Amino acid sequence: MRTIKIFDTTLRDGEQCPGATMNVEEKLQIARQLARLNVDIIEAGFPITSIGDFEAVKRVADEVKGVTVAGLARAVDKDIDRVAEAVKGAESGRIHIVIATSDIHLKYKLKMDREAVLAMSIRAVKHARQYTDDIEFSAEDATRSDWDYLCRVTEEVIKAGATTVNIPDTVGYTLPYEYGELIEYLMNKVPNVDKAVISVHCHNDLGHAVANSTAAILKGAGQVECTINGIGERAGNTALEEVVMSLKTRLKYFDADTRINTREIYKASKLVSRITGIAVQPNKAIIGDNAFAHESGIHQDGILKERSTYEILNPEEIGISKSKLILGKHSGRHAFKDRLSTLGYQSLNEDEINKAFERFKALSDQKKHIFDEDIEALVADEITKGSDLYALSSLHVVTGTTQKPAATIKLSVKGEVKEIQTVGDGPVDAVYNAIKELTGTKSELKKYEIKSITGGTDALGEVVVMLEENDRVVRGGASDPDIIVASAKAYINALNKLAGAGRIVKKGV
Ligand code: KIV
Ligand code: ZN
Repeated sequence: MRTIKIFDTTLRDGEQCPGATMNVEEKLQIARQLARLNVDIIEAGFPITSIGDFEAVKRVADEVKGVTVAGLARAVDKDIDRVAEAVKGAESGRIHIVIATSDIHLKYKLKMDREAVLAMSIRAVKHARQYTDDIEFSAEDATRSDWDYLCRVTEEVIKAGATTVNIPDTVGYTLPYEYGELIEYLMNKVPNVDKAVISVHCHNDLGHAVANSTAAILKGAGQVECTINGIGERAGNTALEEVVMSLKTRLKYFDADTRINTREIYKASKLVSRITGIAVQPNKAIIGDNAFAHESGIHQDGILKERSTYEILNPEEIGISKSKLILGKHSGRHAFKDRLSTLGYQSLNEDEINKAFERFKALSDQKKHIFDEDIEALVADEITKGSDLYALSSLHVVTGTTQKPAATIKLSVKGEVKEIQTVGDGPVDAVYNAIKELTGTKSELKKYEIKSITGGTDALGEVVVMLEENDRVVRGGASDPDIIVASAKAYINALNKLAGAGRIVKKGV
């Protein structure tokens, strides 16, 4: 039985999803959860692109143990040196070098010929080898490259010292059977292929990312690159949870498994969704809300008689607990802390626990039953605050059918508390006008979404907004029993992200 390596790129390719920008603390939280999930490699960022990305890779490398930490570099010395610097504190660090190999990229993007790209690839791998012997080489747009040229590049970079060669379907163009054939071709034609791990990295433009990755595993790929919830550039990347559970569920068919602790999948999914503000579609395989919901009477009857009639996966295997109702008004701090630990928040400090507990107590006065989702929302709100520029001090709104909605808001702006009263077309509009005026920001609201976290009119309301300023798009999110307060907090959360991103402008490669 082969063990397939899981290379998680949620923090790099996943972050390239519009609006999914994460700050360093948020990346660290996700990296810790990825370590609990037992992924083999965390790609924590692209250090040359910004100071923020460099810091994130460095902090993950320095602080998250038991996992290899990788950073991405183009095939040039300055990028490679920056990755080497960022990952040097890791228990095990990897330099990931990328250069395109398809004629279309060579002609229009790189303006280089095949020989020049080959020479540059070899040079880059040799340069990186002075820092570590864990070098990954990616042939960008491999699936639209000439197969024999791809074989040559693979052979030469392995000779130069690459230990993993990645064959990305950068534009999500290939199909499962074809991609399997390409991997098989490389396995048969590259004489030194046994000296490296062949990796696959698929995008989901035609909806085949997971199928392409599993087809490649059958033909000998030893590493799969993927992201939590399948987030990523355009239509996203291969979803980690889908590949992992496919192998686990069809073990005999694949004769291959991973080291993933599948009981951490659900927590990882929730955390990534909350931090990025990207909701998981209800019918998403493995972790969507409906993945284990049986609506039809015939199915329900079958499930009650014998679960395996209609369920091929046990929800507990991916960490969905059976009893969702957990705490109430009379639960103490100990039970709360215990629950936090079960939910995967083992690394909270006492101050964060105390703050979350205070909010839990306040919520339990308003809401009879408190669910796991409520607790996760509270904690996420507390720990994603970070060193914010803007913070809500107080909010008062009047609205109704007979008067123009008005908001009075007190906001801490860079440490100074400011107050203003404004009107708007609705209560949220009034609040957003007030915040805009107090912060003096010029961002445009591109999207506003609201939903209840659990059922009932006393449920926590969750608001996600998307703001755009100077070509930068960020998402902000917050939850509160009062949907107007949640709206204000989500907006402020997004403004804080914009302010953070403004200090560290990404170059974009
Ligand atoms: O899609 C792609 O080609 C990439 C490479 C950097 C591996 O993300
Ligand atoms: Zn990619």
